Amino acid sequence: MHPMLNIAVKAARRAGNLIHRAADNLDHLTVTKKSHADYVSEVDRAAERIIVDALLQAYPTHAILAEEGGAQGESEYLWIIDPLDGTTNFLHGVPQYAVSIALQHNGVLTQAVVYDPTKNDLFTATRGRGAFLNDKRLRVSKRKELEDSLIGTGFPYTRFEHMDAYLAIFKDVMQNTAGLRRAGAASLDLAWTAAGRYDGFFETGLKPWDMAGGALLISEAGGIVSDLAGNQSYMASGHICAGNPHIHEQLLKLIAPHLTEGLKG
Ligand code: IPD
Ligand code: CA
Ligand code: CA
Repeated sequence: MHPMLNIAVKAARRAGNLIHRAADNLDHLTVTKKSHADYVSEVDRAAERIIVDALLQAYPTHAILAEEGGAQGESEYLWIIDPLDGTTNFLHGVPQYAVSIALQHNGVLTQAVVYDPTKNDLFTATRGRGAFLNDKRLRVSKRKELEDSLIGTGFPYTRFEHMDAYLAIFKDVMQNTAGLRRAGAASLDLAWTAAGRYDGFFETGLKPWDMAGGALLISEAGGIVSDLAGNQSYMASGHICAGNPHIHEQLLKLIAPHLTEGLKG
């Protein structure tokens, strides 16, 4: 394993164990509302501290972009961290959440870890060396037809400016696929797409830390990741479409008629 990935895996496991233990004691958690329907708990913050401390101890000059603490440092190496992706699930005892850590080198994703502590699923990737679930090499699914496909998505629930366009896309995807799932943790939705469980995925309004780890997993598993118009600006816009190459292309075609100016990036 690449030494930088190794450090990230150790940090993700440590944070994941803390989250897993805390899941037994949800009634005693301190929870704060960040904005409408957007909550953060002491567990999100403690998990992030564990990860940031571990990364900076190994690489003191690297920069950090983390959900709770924001940006710190300046370097060609940038760690992008979601300490607990799927907080709403976690707070309700729904076992679908993950730790996501990715490394960008000069703007290019090079290492990724998405760790699901409830299933002990460790998804990892290094650019050019493939993606893995625990020790098993991952490939995206081989399904060729959208109508046979299972697609993942996430609903807008904090900001609703793209709601109408999203619902129009949702309706078309619902009517032209074998099924649509909203599991509640974008990093895992992407990891599951890398693993071929989902044939494709789309969502609007995500943040870099929701996408960075999962995006590298998918490209290393032979899939395609883009924005909703098929270009590469998803990390900036937060609008993302991914899948195996066949389904990704067909999803983009289905989405195209509904693209507003704001969703094109
Ligand atoms: C959220 C989850 C969810 C997605 C939201 C994200 P959080 O992350 O990934 O699936 O739909 O947009 O904000 O807040 O639980 O880290
Ligand atoms: Ca998240
Ligand atoms: Ca989070």
